[in-house]
Amino acid sequence: MNARTIRTLAAALSLTAALAISGCSSSGSDSGSDSGSGAGAKSSDAPEAAKPTMTVSGAFMPEPVNDKMAGAFMVIKNDSKTADKLVSVTSPLSDDLQIHETKDQKMQQVQSMDVPANGELKLTRGGNHIMFMGLKNQPKVGDKITIELRFEKADPVKVELDVKERTHNAQNSTAH
Ligand code: CU
Repeated sequence: MNARTIRTLAAALSLTAALAISGCSSSGSDSGSDSGSGAGAKSSDAPEAAKPTMTVSGAFMPEPVNDKMAGAFMVIKNDSKTADKLVSVTSPLSDDLQIHETKDQKMQQVQSMDVPANGELKLTRGGNHIMFMGLKNQPKVGDKITIELRFEKADPVKVELDVKERTHNAQNSTAH
């Protein structure tokens, strides 16, 4: 109504504001303040730099036709919240292992392949795969071939490939 009332109102408002601010910054034991908290609360549970851990299943190599090349197939599972990449593969069987993708029914080498957070990288016949270029010997059905997968973040993983018949496909062994 007049200037004095307005000043009083303004003082009351700024006092409220000051209380609100101090209420906010005094840490959490106040019950009943429900405004603006929660932004930072959730992320503190999990350490930021958590290393992904990879689980590999269904790894196999179809018996190679000759000693020039062979493929390897498997599912690489990442149960962590951190996305990672498969960057290289080594094996005593060959000095040149490549990561291949298949596009328009032609395969081509890529430098790395994504293993999404809480996801998996599927290496399947007709799709993405690991390729041995040049074999030191020619494995037969029943043999086991050791390879080591290297990732950008996760520790290396040693995998045993079961050498299977040439027509083997992963779908045969998993009922779904
Ligand atoms: Cu290939």
